[in-house]
Amino acid sequence: MKIGKQYKLRPDIKEAAAQHVRSLFIQAGNSDLVRLLKKEAFKRVYKQMLADPDSFMPRIFSAEIEPWSGTKPKGPGDFLTGSFVLPSLPQVQIQLQEIIDDPKSTIGDLTEIIGREPKLAAAVLRLANSGLYKLEGKIETPSKAVELLGFEKAGTLALGTASLSLFKRSDDAVLDLVKFWKHSIACGVVAQEIAFIAGLGDPERFFAGGLMHDIGLHVIFESDYSMAVDIFKLACSDGYNLYKAEHEMLGFNHADLGGYILMKWKFPRQLIAAAWGHHNPRKVKTDPDAMVIHVADFIAQALGYELGISPVIGYIDRTAWEKIGITAEQLIEMLPEIRRLIDDVFYIFEE
Ligand SMILES: [Fe+2]
Repeated sequence: MKIGKQYKLRPDIKEAAAQHVRSLFIQAGNSDLVRLLKKEAFKRVYKQMLADPDSFMPRIFSAEIEPWSGTKPKGPGDFLTGSFVLPSLPQVQIQLQEIIDDPKSTIGDLTEIIGREPKLAAAVLRLANSGLYKLEGKIETPSKAVELLGFEKAGTLALGTASLSLFKRSDDAVLDLVKFWKHSIACGVVAQEIAFIAGLGDPERFFAGGLMHDIGLHVIFESDYSMAVDIFKLACSDGYNLYKAEHEMLGFNHADLGGYILMKWKFPRQLIAAAWGHHNPRKVKTDPDAMVIHVADFIAQALGYELGISPVIGYIDRTAWEKIGITAEQLIEMLPEIRRLIDDVFYIFEE
């Protein structure tokens, strides 16, 4: 179904969709980008309300869940040394980081590490063939993919891809892991395409930045069930969004925690900056990564790849968008390609 002047919309659904979109963007301001994304969001929401109205029902938690009784931590470090434990890195990731950090490493070393993990090798090969990297011709083997991408691109891509294995689901989780994965992947694809069009160089590091940007959110929501429910409920209250609710409950938000975790894990500087600054890109002065991931995070949610927590997307930093230097029209033109790439990458990771 196409939505345009020639089609008559159902007035009740039209009003409900318009109201939903107004709420989504209530903290977003009124730039050209926001106006165009609102139009896109309206088409999507209207169709979804017709096809699956139940998906818009608010989530209800059992009244028997006790409120969180923990004390506010002094900061991300205190949070992780208290009752919550920093997740440990898989061996392949440690090895990848050692190879990436060692100036004597060769592309052969990297290929060997990637080749030891069949799932990782397959994902790298398929991503290299997916259109994300604009490589010509079909690449037949993981080693050829690494060779064509080059040491840095392949290393960052492998690091981001391997990191996805950290996001495991516990039963009855407050965070919907499928939505979380899709949001992370969509943010990575949007960030990479923005970086490509803006000529920022190394677009693959923006893809990895998008994959990892919400790792702090995953850790917070997997840490304590009552705490996660309380943050969820507060994030759905009037005037709040997710990171404001986290800040009120914990004294920091998932971006602060994510940056801290990636720093502890000794991740590349730009990936730390992307996670740490993605809800406040002005904190990062040196690299454009936080700006790009901030904007890509907003756009991914506007396109429907939401986390399913707060009904509000949050704000978009106008200066960050303007500094990136592409226009809203350029972005809207890219959307069909972005959507196709997101579908391709979902498919690769689902397998
Ligand atoms: Fe976030």
